[in-house]
Amino acid sequence: MSFKINDSVTWVGKIDWALRKFHGDEYSTHKGSSYNSYLIRDEKTVLMDTVWRPFSKEFMQNLKKEIDLNKIDYIIVNHAEPDHSGALPDLMKEIPNTPIYCTKNAVKSIKGHYHQDWNFVEVKTGDKLNIGKKDLIFVEARMLHWPDTMFSYLTGDNILFSNDAFGQHYASELMFNDLVDKAELYQEATKYYANILTPFSKLVENKINEVLSFNLPVDMICPSHGIIWRDNPLQIVNKYMEWAKDYQENQVTIVYDTMWDATRKMAEAISEGIVAENKSIAIKQFNSSHSDKNDIVTEVFKSKAVIVGSSTINKGILYSTAGFLEQIKGLGFKNKKGGVFGSYGWSGESTKIICEDLTKAGFDLIDEGIKVLWEPDEAGLDICREYGRKIGKALL
Ligand code: FEO
Repeated sequence: MSFKINDSVTWVGKIDWALRKFHGDEYSTHKGSSYNSYLIRDEKTVLMDTVWRPFSKEFMQNLKKEIDLNKIDYIIVNHAEPDHSGALPDLMKEIPNTPIYCTKNAVKSIKGHYHQDWNFVEVKTGDKLNIGKKDLIFVEARMLHWPDTMFSYLTGDNILFSNDAFGQHYASELMFNDLVDKAELYQEATKYYANILTPFSKLVENKINEVLSFNLPVDMICPSHGIIWRDNPLQIVNKYMEWAKDYQENQVTIVYDTMWDATRKMAEAISEGIVAENKSIAIKQFNSSHSDKNDIVTEVFKSKAVIVGSSTINKGILYSTAGFLEQIKGLGFKNKKGGVFGSYGWSGESTKIICEDLTKAGFDLIDEGIKVLWEPDEAGLDICREYGRKIGKALL
């Protein structure tokens, strides 16, 4: 499949409808994904990025239907992660001398992955490649989300090729943001930002300000995953600016794991207390042992606070709670409160451990949390409801 984006740009990527896990097991892709590669035709012909290695052969066959490979004058690698550079080995076997334009860090990364010394041309912010009537202008975007990342801007058509930034793991043959379901699109764009870009929020803000300061008109944003933004393309740029500034909605997320349901009952009683005190706040509640970890992170991203609970086991916490805490520690959320709870039978260390981990993860603890011995009876549930009220008030 190929698809004309406009008179000069053709999409030649791969829609991966079946994908359900990405980055190994790190990221769930309930709606599949795509690896977007673009062919740009002017007096010169440019191939912008490729696809993930398992689709390399299909990509090559498809590309050959679209163009004689020897007519490709330049290859651009905006980011060398294998989901975008994976077809380079097959491509470069056929056109080994074609120059590959990329950042200095991308050269290191490509060599590290493929152990080949292809014809690299290193570029940095502001460098231009004339391709006829139009230019490609390169903008380094380090840590968005790898040190090698860059954006490429096509003059004349005013297209920003943003690679991972502004992308979504969202398979659709409709291709454009004005044609797909908006709620689905934003759900996937938010999840992408929350799980991948949160640690780099300060850099996101700075980079967007830098790109906007060039005053380049933007008629389309073509990311390397998912849907192309052509209807009011700056809407996603503005959304990123909001997300980068310690984003929160009026929401609290409760995440717990439980052995015999006591901690679940605590979670539900805490919810009742929050609602009793704070009627307008949305509450999301997850048992982390059987919920999708990336969906949980997306809700934490939108929340003012996360309330974490676990039974005590072997003087520690349950496995899924430990995994969740490790995950949010790496993401570096800012300006969010934390609450803690847990049931126990003997020693009861879970709340102390969760407090320590939430503090390390950058959350501002409401207090040291609550613990309930054995199954909570009505008095135990009242303690939980009272704690919920305290949380509800703290989030007003
Ligand atoms: Fe889509 Fe960072 O690769």
